[in-house]
Amino acid sequence: MIVVTGASGNVGRPLVEALAAAGAKVTAVSRSPLSYDLPEGARHVRADLAEPDTLRPAVDGADALFILLAGDLLGGGAPATEVVAAAAEGGVRRVVLLSSQINGTRPDVLSHGRLREFEEAVRSSGLDWTILRPGGFASNAYGWAEAVRTQRAVIAPFADVALPVVDPADIAEVAAAVLREEGHSGQTYELTGPAAVTPREQAAAFAAALGEEVGFVELTREQAREHMARFMPEPVIDGTLDIIGTPLPAEQRVSPDVEKILGRPAGSFASWAERNIHAFK
Ligand SMILES: NC(=O)c1ccc[n+]([C@@H]2O[C@H](COP(=O)([O-])OP(=O)(O)OC[C@H]3O[C@@H](n4cnc5c(N)ncnc54)[C@H](OP(=O)(O)O)[C@@H]3O)[C@@H](O)[C@H]2O)c1
Repeated sequence: MIVVTGASGNVGRPLVEALAAAGAKVTAVSRSPLSYDLPEGARHVRADLAEPDTLRPAVDGADALFILLAGDLLGGGAPATEVVAAAAEGGVRRVVLLSSQINGTRPDVLSHGRLREFEEAVRSSGLDWTILRPGGFASNAYGWAEAVRTQRAVIAPFADVALPVVDPADIAEVAAAVLREEGHSGQTYELTGPAAVTPREQAAAFAAALGEEVGFVELTREQAREHMARFMPEPVIDGTLDIIGTPLPAEQRVSPDVEKILGRPAGSFASWAERNIHAFK
């Protein structure tokens, strides 16, 4: 049994589907009911990672756990060691943590302290552990969906700053491989897309997928900050703006890890946009 937290999100949902398709028994964890039909071999258990005791029914008898922290969990909550201990007491022997590239490139930033705490907890857990550190997600572009739908424009800062955004479905496929296969214990993988792409080029990808023009309205950093506060926890905003506005060379670099693990190149932003264009129509 493999337990997937964050099971209704950008990464968790395709991860549940990939694991079930590979024949694994899966427990999908979130606080709210799922909005999609679970595949055969999967069940849903409601739990809140902020209260590790609620996780116990989900991890009881499980072999492996995928930990994803989102929303308020990135700002605080129960100590990471309690979450990992609850899993180990339930029988979990392998843990895969979804962290962030920023913990490698900017190890001191305040915004990612919780993810660093979880990295430390899994490393010192005595369990088999693997840490995934993705760069920016292609799905962050959902934040542009309303403007593309209603104004046929992307409204965003830093129009010409390129980053190799990663498709969450690739993160899920990597996580599924690492959860099921041997040989990844003690590894930290950096996950990016196949090429650095600017927001202006992302707008062009929507235009191509829609078959219509999509304009670009460039925001200042302050305007962007206000906009992001609607869908991102406060402590994460400045760290994110630093990366998307003034990335370090290491954050613009394409990592080989997705291809190394999956045996195929990472998916492009254009392919993510085509697959998800219904949200932008
Ligand atoms: N976006 C990026 O560019 C980026 C880059 C690097 C790393 N990351 C990392 O990726 C993660 C976000 O992944 P995502 O986009 O897949 O998330 P998401 O789409 O926002 O989904 C979050 C999931 O977590 C669940 N959840 C939230 N709070 C919970 C709690 N207290 N207990 C149990 N489940 C909870 C949600 O379901 P319920 O609300 O029903 O519980 C949902 O299933 C974050 O850790 C972030 O740091 C993101």
